[in-house]
Amino acid sequence: MPQLDIGVDLGTASVVIYGKGNGIVLDQPAVIAIDRSSRSILAVGEEARRMLGRTPGNIVAMRPLQNGTVADLNLTCLMLNTFVKKVTSRRLRLFGGPRIILSLPEGVNEVERRSITGALFEAGARRTQLMERPIASAIGANLKIKDATGSMIVDVGGGLTEIAVISMGRCIVRESCPFAGDQFDEAIIRYIRRKHNLLIGELTAEDLKINIGSALERTDQLYMEVTGRNLISGLPKVMRIYSDEITEALQDPLDKLIEALHGVLEQTPAELASDIFDRGVTLTGGGGQLALLPEAIARSLDVECYLAENPHETVARGCGQTLEHWNEFGQFLGNRRR
Ligand SMILES: Nc1ncnc2c1ncn2[C@@H]1O[C@H](COP(=O)(O)OP(=O)(O)O)[C@@H](O)[C@H]1O
Ligand SMILES: [Mg+2]
Repeated sequence: MPQLDIGVDLGTASVVIYGKGNGIVLDQPAVIAIDRSSRSILAVGEEARRMLGRTPGNIVAMRPLQNGTVADLNLTCLMLNTFVKKVTSRRLRLFGGPRIILSLPEGVNEVERRSITGALFEAGARRTQLMERPIASAIGANLKIKDATGSMIVDVGGGLTEIAVISMGRCIVRESCPFAGDQFDEAIIRYIRRKHNLLIGELTAEDLKINIGSALERTDQLYMEVTGRNLISGLPKVMRIYSDEITEALQDPLDKLIEALHGVLEQTPAELASDIFDRGVTLTGGGGQLALLPEAIARSLDVECYLAENPHETVARGCGQTLEHWNEFGQFLGNRRR
């Protein structure tokens, strides 16, 4: 069904779109595949993701946003434009077009921001407004952001973890760090190469993380068979990898992530910090779903930690809720608008 007004979460790993009155209408990997010579789009989203690392010379499949910043601005705009056109209708675009609330990773700079909102106008948008990611995520996680009480929200994405302390609808402290889902995958690749002389691909590492990974050792040891390249013989090899190995592999990036959280708590004014110790930390983002991550954070910081419902969708839901309840949340939009 074509949407009119939409909330868009342009993440480093995925694009999630909320259609006013309809809920989540699109959830796709932030990947685009193009033909290098003609610069035409071959695929976006899941279809393009399956091409990663498998394309012939004239085709590129890539994630245009990496490590929380824009790696290729042109492709970012093309990808977003394609997704938005997919969910909005041509007829409605002709009648003034959708209003869009957009949330971007913190690493996107002003110039890129302008190009990206420009791409939305090209896709037919009537008006685009930006919403700070932690605010959107907090609204989407149903936190009471208007209260004069501190809440801490930690959004673990693909390329970036964004940490914020919010009070009365504003970010009081805001930080981001690169220890997020992609870093977890890379740590798994490094660990398996070092320990087993086996080279595995990024998608395999991600499967290991999602299926058997965990932030703390689990009581039930799981395993998964993976195929990689034996670095000594150069030939493919199948191996059984155990969950405790993944936990060990993730220790280093997880310690750094927790250190970043610690840093934010240290910068937080005392009254707000005490609210956080009373109310706990809310975890969102796809990477927040790593098994036992809330427990690991709670144990290290000595504060309760909860995983939000549908953690991967909170940013898009927050932008969407703002469209649904304009009187309540419209005031929290960023002041950069066009
Ligand atoms: N069940 C899971 N366990 C651990 N990590 C997960 C799980 N599901 C998704 N992820 C990870 O979440 C990250 C993507 O989160 P997402 O919120 O989509 O990122 P972004 O907001 O940066 O686009 C990826 O690194 C992915 O591997
Ligand atoms: Mg996300």
